Amino acid sequence: MRTQVAIIGGGPSGLLLSQLLHRKGIDTVVLERKTRDYVLGRIRAGILETGFVDLMHEAGVGARMDAESFVHDGAVIACGNAMFDINFKRRTGSHVVVYGQTEVTRDLYDAREAMGGNIVFNTENVVIHDATATPYVTYDADGGSHRIDCDYVVGCDGFHGVSRQTIPRTVRREYEKAYPFGWLGVLSETPPVHDELIYSCSDRGFALCSMRNANLSRYYVQCSLDDSPDDWSDAQFWDELKRRLPEEIAERLVTGPSIEKSIAPLRSFVTEPMRWGNLFLCGDAAHIVPPTGAKGLNTAASDIHYLYNGLVRFYLDDDAQGLEEYSAKALARVWKAERFSWWMTNLLHRFPDQTAFDLKMQQADLAFLRENEAAQQVFAQNYVGLPY
Ligand code: APR
Ligand code: PHB
Repeated sequence: MRTQVAIIGGGPSGLLLSQLLHRKGIDTVVLERKTRDYVLGRIRAGILETGFVDLMHEAGVGARMDAESFVHDGAVIACGNAMFDINFKRRTGSHVVVYGQTEVTRDLYDAREAMGGNIVFNTENVVIHDATATPYVTYDADGGSHRIDCDYVVGCDGFHGVSRQTIPRTVRREYEKAYPFGWLGVLSETPPVHDELIYSCSDRGFALCSMRNANLSRYYVQCSLDDSPDDWSDAQFWDELKRRLPEEIAERLVTGPSIEKSIAPLRSFVTEPMRWGNLFLCGDAAHIVPPTGAKGLNTAASDIHYLYNGLVRFYLDDDAQGLEEYSAKALARVWKAERFSWWMTNLLHRFPDQTAFDLKMQQADLAFLRENEAAQQVFAQNYVGLPY
């Protein structure tokens, strides 16, 4: 088989890139290790920056998102019983959009299928060869071995994929920070407790009230890395969540059976460079943020934006400059999202080894944010997404 761009990974990054390129007449093949249902079963974040929304439109997959998503003009920060609102619209003129990653991925799969896009599921043993010369990819599927020759390989295969590992250790520089806690998340068919997200810090740890739609809520509590979802009954989860929210919010919280419960560790990670020869990395394959600030999917989107434009320029205008600049441009924006996610994580969580001084620093940081319009503007600019 021959294609122009071989894409490893059929998550949001790989699907979006494939869809965008197809509409410009550039041929792709997507190799996905799992099945479509498996990918759609993963519950991830649900906050889109407007840059992501624009890319969905450019990809021709904005219709259901436009009809079913919700615009959020602000978010609430709570601490103990005190709360304040950060108004994105007033501070930046922009907003974020609530639409689950599962729905984004479903729309992309539907569009790829409708256009006859080539997605191979259940691929095993994907290997990238000759990345710095004339690349090709080999893999096993349907009981046989296969080979795809291509101009470029794009690694969209997430944090545990093969693409990043293909870049030699001597070339790769990795930067990592693991946080000493996780997030226990619950999805429930209950009305959201508030019409905006609430990021809450309390003596018992962090909590987040989020949502997918008018009858689907997503809540999180900071938990120990040793916990397993089975350790937490629904009743225990709701009780702990309420204890971490301002009383007036806790009183209004509608509880119900969880329809999904999972624990995610928190990690900051970046690998440099994001290009090695004719291999490019995008999304979680190259960088991870802790979920505080909802930047995971959105940093994937800015990578796709830069790479898509670089590939279009190469194939349509015979100009490789966009590809030459890809790694530096993508990383410049990624590091700022890393900083914001790290800062917000530090601001709102309880750390096991936190000293009395550290706590005072957190309190002062929060007080400054509550009282200072410039600080709120900086927060809002980062939250709605820095320009591409
Ligand atoms: N071969 C083929 N496919 C693979 C391989 C492999 N060796 N390794 C991983 N994959 C697939 C995974 O099964 C997954 O479907 O690559 C896909 C990667 O998808 P994601 O992990 O979702 O990463 P990405 O598409 O970059 O999405 C951005 O932003 O909100 C965050 O973490 C969240 O998934 C989200 C990410
Ligand atoms: C979510 O809705 O799952 C979500 C929202 C905001 C975050 C993280 C997760 O910062």
